[in-house]
Amino acid sequence: MIHDSHHRRWTGPDEAGRARSRARDRRNVNTGAFDPLDAIADVTGRHRAWLHVDGAFGLWAAASETLKPHTRGVERADSWATDAHKWLNVPYDSGLVFVAHPAAHRAAMSVSAAYLLRSPEEPREPMDWTPEASRRARGFAVYAALRSLGRRGVEDLVDRCCRLARRFADRLRQEPVIQILNEVVLNQVLVRVAPPTGDADAATREALRVIQEERVCWLGGTRWRDMDAMRISVSNWSTTENDVDRSADSIIRATRRQV
Ligand SMILES: Cc1ncc(COP(=O)(O)O)c(C=O)c1O
Repeated sequence: MIHDSHHRRWTGPDEAGRARSRARDRRNVNTGAFDPLDAIADVTGRHRAWLHVDGAFGLWAAASETLKPHTRGVERADSWATDAHKWLNVPYDSGLVFVAHPAAHRAAMSVSAAYLLRSPEEPREPMDWTPEASRRARGFAVYAALRSLGRRGVEDLVDRCCRLARRFADRLRQEPVIQILNEVVLNQVLVRVAPPTGDADAATREALRVIQEERVCWLGGTRWRDMDAMRISVSNWSTTENDVDRSADSIIRATRRQV
């Protein structure tokens, strides 16, 4: 999607009507920034295109009263995908999909074979709604987590991680040689080492190596707007303020070695 700032609207490369589907990530994986879904839904609606939202992380923001406004327009999508093994912290391989058009969903997933016994009384055959005929009970852990946390617990989890991300950013930006590249809107913080002289990309990469070696915390590297950066993603339910402070100290220590 391209933002046409002159006409103040979103246009797709398919304005001529070629492509018929759009996949949007609810948020940028580096910065946590959200796409303007309402505007995007206007375009896909105009072209009768299928709007799919990849909300692996971002969809969970809808559980928070504070963050929910970022997800405005998500209800206009045709389908959502998200991961329970990210913010909900259940074991890997717990992907979720929601489709607003049951007939299309079922037609895409359903398989039939003579040996697959179907019961006319069965109100909903799970095999009709997923790509697999056989699978382990992944839904059990997801259900148990949601049941034990409740609506409030999920909201607290999301809000707490975002608050801790802001704490990270606040601590780190006090260090003159550190730049926080993004506006911290979710749980992501992009950190760059910017020494007064020398190569900031190399300094960032080297600081990252030292941090990973020290093992107080783990963060990965990324490249954003042609800049190397460290990518902090606060998503574990057990992370505390003390963990953030110790981790920030480790990052600052590694950074000072680059000056
Ligand atoms: C927005 C988004 N989509 C998809 C994925 C991939 O998820 P998975 O590894 O569960 O397939 C990620 C992983 O970080 C993600 O952030």
